[in-house]
Amino acid sequence: MAAKSGFLKTAIKDFKTIGAIAGSSPHLIEEMLEPVPFSSARSIVEMGAGDGRITDAIIRHMSPESQLLVFELNDVFFAGLARIQDARVQCLNQNAADLLQWVQPDSVDAVISALPLAFIPKAEKNRILRAAAESLKPGGLFVQFQYSLTDYGLLRRHFGKVGVRFELLNIPPAFIYVCTK
Ligand SMILES: C[S@@+](CC[C@H](N)C(=O)[O-])C[C@H]1O[C@@H](n2cnc3c(N)ncnc32)[C@H](O)[C@@H]1O
Repeated sequence: MAAKSGFLKTAIKDFKTIGAIAGSSPHLIEEMLEPVPFSSARSIVEMGAGDGRITDAIIRHMSPESQLLVFELNDVFFAGLARIQDARVQCLNQNAADLLQWVQPDSVDAVISALPLAFIPKAEKNRILRAAAESLKPGGLFVQFQYSLTDYGLLRRHFGKVGVRFELLNIPPAFIYVCTK
């Protein structure tokens, strides 16, 4: 089970990187994962794992043949991810913007991101979104949540199609972008 109690404590110490004081709700997580074709997806990437609550849900859904590559920059959260003992999962204490150092272009079925886009400088955000788009196979999905629609336009520049969902049962309520290139 994810170590949820430490989220606020860690977030206060590193708010600019974490960008939230509470983790995502189970409703938000399930709504983010709903469009992901887990039965066929073989290569999955998670950006911004935090305490691993989305990671845990991905692991519950993913097939025995699939691989999950997880990026988390915060050292405390990254250390906590060591609790995940699953041969299909590799956790990296690395910047998600460097994704293409770890996967081939056009090779990933789904990138699931909880990165705090609103707090990330624009040049860095462009690097992250470019890497996510380039990593995806044709038809692959990039799923990202945000508390406002601030980055809708930016996502449109990186992805051919950007759908938007809304999840009320989260604090605060959140928009979910579901993008394909
Ligand atoms: C809003 S929290 C999400 C935590 C958790 N996945 C959830 O949904 O509750 C965002 C996480 O992204 C991480 N992060 C921020 N920028 C990052 C980057 N460039 N690369 C990897 N992780 C990053 C932060 O350290 C933080 O843990």
